[in-house]
Amino acid sequence: MKILVIGSGGREHAICWKIASEISSGTIYALPGNGGIGEIANFVNIPIENHQEIASFVKREKIDLTIVGPEVPLAGGMVDVFHKKKLKIFGPNKKAAALESSKIWAKEFMMENEIPTAGFFVADDFNSAKVIVEKVQFPVVIKFDGLAAGKGVKVVGNFKEAVDFLEDVFEKHLFSQTGNRIVVEEFLSGKELSYIVITDGERFIPLVPAKDYKKIYENDAGPNTGGMGCYSPVPFCSSELERLIEKRIVVPTIKGLQKKSIDYCGVLYFGLMITQQGPRVLEYNVRFGDPETEVILPRMESSLLEIIESAIEGRLEDASVRWKQESTVDVVIASGGYPGKYDTGLPVDVDPLPEGVMIFHAGTKKQFDRFVTAGGRVLNIVGFGKTLREAREKAYEGVARIHFNGMYFRRDIAQSIC
Ligand code: AMP
Ligand code: GLY
Repeated sequence: MKILVIGSGGREHAICWKIASEISSGTIYALPGNGGIGEIANFVNIPIENHQEIASFVKREKIDLTIVGPEVPLAGGMVDVFHKKKLKIFGPNKKAAALESSKIWAKEFMMENEIPTAGFFVADDFNSAKVIVEKVQFPVVIKFDGLAAGKGVKVVGNFKEAVDFLEDVFEKHLFSQTGNRIVVEEFLSGKELSYIVITDGERFIPLVPAKDYKKIYENDAGPNTGGMGCYSPVPFCSSELERLIEKRIVVPTIKGLQKKSIDYCGVLYFGLMITQQGPRVLEYNVRFGDPETEVILPRMESSLLEIIESAIEGRLEDASVRWKQESTVDVVIASGGYPGKYDTGLPVDVDPLPEGVMIFHAGTKKQFDRFVTAGGRVLNIVGFGKTLREAREKAYEGVARIHFNGMYFRRDIAQSIC
């Protein structure tokens, strides 16, 4: 079997690793991949935005299945190009990807389908946004409408902070040169949870819940990042809460998409706040979470490939998923300066790892015979254990084996539950 995985993060390394453990023969291709992925997959050297050329490559090489990791190619319509050419691909089409690529589209979708979420206002320019923040009670959350790698959302505590962020969006054009819009959202308190399902557009298979750490600094301070760590299982997520999430949020979302005649096949990620009043949707993602995937897939006993094939063929009722009773904790090691400016090309040294630790690479590449840094989030160090406490200890034992100039990681991943 030949499989192409699109993307270059820890999520894609985890997907490649899981698939490699499931196929006895065949080849995994990665586009563009990273240093760690290069150890188990062949690199494909085509620009990721060139969907037509990627599809031609897939046809020529007779690749059986393409799995899309990140949101940008999904929002850009890679799946639509593949479908036109009758090539097998896992991920939602461009229309469906609006759930993630436009916060405003997603909020309106939630309103139409009575899916619980935070109250909100929409603004299309600086002045109307300013009028809104003049009237709100702080804190509020301001969200840039489009894709921004997790960095287009800011919790603001006062009017000045709000105006500063509005200037970033509308005057400094930090996220996009044109067509800027924002959502001003009610601030919700509670516990965050990542709830991820695989769906064929009718049925769904839930993955085990995970808890992600979005902020750069300990105690959840500082700006948002792509994710600085993660763990699974999540002790506060009871089976009652899971049933409630499915009933109030997952099922209405899938039905809402059907009502709009949107064929959704792929991963659907619900970023939730579990408030006193129940679960609320903070965001949808139309793909596996990163770093959630790095703690979820190592716990999956079943074949990911079989589930993906069942979803694509619209027979998810035949698929089931079994999980290992293990806990996993992921500590992300980032380049100093991330999520702002950082250096790349720094040599990464990895001392021999203890048992119960594995590494998923993110921003690395191989230069001659050694790994060097090539991105903001560099490595995911995943610890395994019978309990979260054991898994956490292992993860940090693993972190101590990594060395590069300026490396930064949070020391409090999974601390509050251990
Ligand atoms: P989003 O990309 O919309 O999930 O937002 C990124 C992060 O900002 C979330 O993971 C939360 O930590 C925080 N956040 C977003 N919306 C809200 C909200 N309405 N209330 C409180 N925190 C929020
Ligand atoms: N971990 C958050 C995300 O994947 O967007």
